[in-house]
Amino acid sequence: MADSTGTPRPVGEADLLVEHARAFRGRFGAGARPRLYFSPGRVNLMGAHLDYNGGPVMPTAIDRGTFLALAPRSDGRIALASTLDSALVEVDLAHLPSERAGRWADYPLGVLREVLSLARARGARGSGLDVLFGGNLPVGAGLSSSASMCVGTAFALDSVWGLDLARLDLVNAALRAERGFVGVQCGIMDPYAVGLAREGALLWLDCKDGSSEYLPFDHARLSIAVADTLVRRELAQGAFNERVAQCRAAFEALRIHQPEATCLRDVRYETLAEHQAGLDPTIARRAHHVIREVARTFSARDALRRGDAGGFGVEMTRAHDSMRELFDVSVPELDRLVESAVGTPGVHGARLTGAGFGGCAVILLEKGAEAELTRRLHADFSATFGRAPVVEVYGGDAGPREIQA
Ligand code: GLA
Repeated sequence: MADSTGTPRPVGEADLLVEHARAFRGRFGAGARPRLYFSPGRVNLMGAHLDYNGGPVMPTAIDRGTFLALAPRSDGRIALASTLDSALVEVDLAHLPSERAGRWADYPLGVLREVLSLARARGARGSGLDVLFGGNLPVGAGLSSSASMCVGTAFALDSVWGLDLARLDLVNAALRAERGFVGVQCGIMDPYAVGLAREGALLWLDCKDGSSEYLPFDHARLSIAVADTLVRRELAQGAFNERVAQCRAAFEALRIHQPEATCLRDVRYETLAEHQAGLDPTIARRAHHVIREVARTFSARDALRRGDAGGFGVEMTRAHDSMRELFDVSVPELDRLVESAVGTPGVHGARLTGAGFGGCAVILLEKGAEAELTRRLHADFSATFGRAPVVEVYGGDAGPREIQA
């Protein structure tokens, strides 16, 4: 891209969305003038597998995400298309499917059902739409492509149907869609991280009561790099649901000894230490991870507040070790990335982000150290696995919005 003086300028979101509008016309007709929306992905820096245990998490939105183009149609039907799929999914607003079909369109269909019922509760009716999804976020990489799509869909439907729903209503509609319709037992972190994003801040979200605050993040001094192993595990969803069930089992067993506890996050380390012999060893390891990770996440917040990036990074790397040894959600490719990242000058810490089982490592580093980090990650990873990871430095993001392209 170049401006009128011929000077190259970076490709911005408006340019990307212009491309997306072009793709929309290719799919739905040359005359269409869609409205365009962007919804970010997220990285989680601390609080691994804590959201569904009522613990605190510290995610931040990134400047990659889902693009949506929507244009009205008059026949009361909704057509869903994706730049990643040649098939078109068409449904009638009056007869939305009540069962998932095991395909990507389940996500927006689940959201459609939720937003439509919120609309009807306010006496409004939805109207037909052609919708094209696309984006620049790797799918299934632990960067919350599904929450990005679901919250983005809720936001865009609210906007084109003129509903004026509260942001938290949209976030919760996205969450219900994923849990109820798609069938993933996910916690609240991802839709909250996307929907409540604020540029230049990490979100501190207490998943026990849903309270949140923004923690300033010094983008002038620090960078967040993400290294993608390109490993995608087909069965990750089942393994994730299994972790949720194991944590539930740990809580059920331990609450007997600490009756005031309302979730695993509330269980004290002393309670676990005293009663772990009575637990299945795998369940005990899961509980150890959760209870220690809660303490690490508070300690990382304290470090951030006193400007101690090194102290924050140490907790990130400890979190990774715990996910590898106690929670069993890492893979050798992620361990390799974390190991070579933390050996690089200027790097404060690294860990896998998202659920694990492949996907990405997130790395906290000093500004200026990115080139050396990328060089080392490429060299070390290629030496072990014979191929390169994808390493990127992400900026922050302000959350879902309409884009005038
Ligand atoms: C996935 C889930 C989140 C959270 C993380 C692990 O991303 O969608 O709710 O549980 O894994 O921290």
